[in-house]
Amino acid sequence: MKALAFASITAAALPCALLAAAPAAAQQDLAARSLAATCANCHGTDGHARGAVMKPLAGMPAERLLTLMAGYQRGSEPSTVMQQIARGYSDAQLRLIAAYFAAVPPAPPR
Ligand code: HEC
Repeated sequence: MKALAFASITAAALPCALLAAAPAAAQQDLAARSLAATCANCHGTDGHARGAVMKPLAGMPAERLLTLMAGYQRGSEPSTVMQQIARGYSDAQLRLIAAYFAAVPPAPPR
C-alpha cells in the first residue's frame, strides 16, 4: 500500500517536473535574446549589420566571438568602443550572447 502511494505521488510529480523545465529554458532564451539586443544598435537587428563599417555578428562561431570579446576585455584586441562594451558583461552572459549569434543564420549577400 505504501509503495503504491509512493508510485502515484511520483507519477503525479513527474509532469510537474517536466513543466517546470520548459519555463526555465524559455527564460534562458529570453535572457540570451535581451543580451544580444544590446548589440543591435551598432551590429544590426539579430547581428545582421550590413555595410562596410559595422561587422555582422549573425552566424559568427561562438568560439570566435568569445575570443574577440576576451581580447577586447584584456585590451589586446584593437578597438574604439568594444573594449568598453566587452567589460560590461560577465563570462556567463557572453556565453549566452555567443551561442545566440552563432545560431542566427547570416544574412544572404545583397
Ligand atoms: C556602440 C556601438 C557598438 C555596440 C553597442 C556593440 N558593438 Fe561590437 N563593435 C563595434 C565597433 C565600432 C567594432 C569595431 C572595433 C572597435 O572599434 O571597437 C565592433 C566590433 C565587434 C566585434 C568584432 C567583429 C569582427 O568580425 O571583427 C565583435 C565580435 C563585437 N563587436 C561584438 C559585440 C557584441 C557581442 C556586442 C553586444 C554585447 C557589441 N559588439 C555591441 C561597435 C559596437
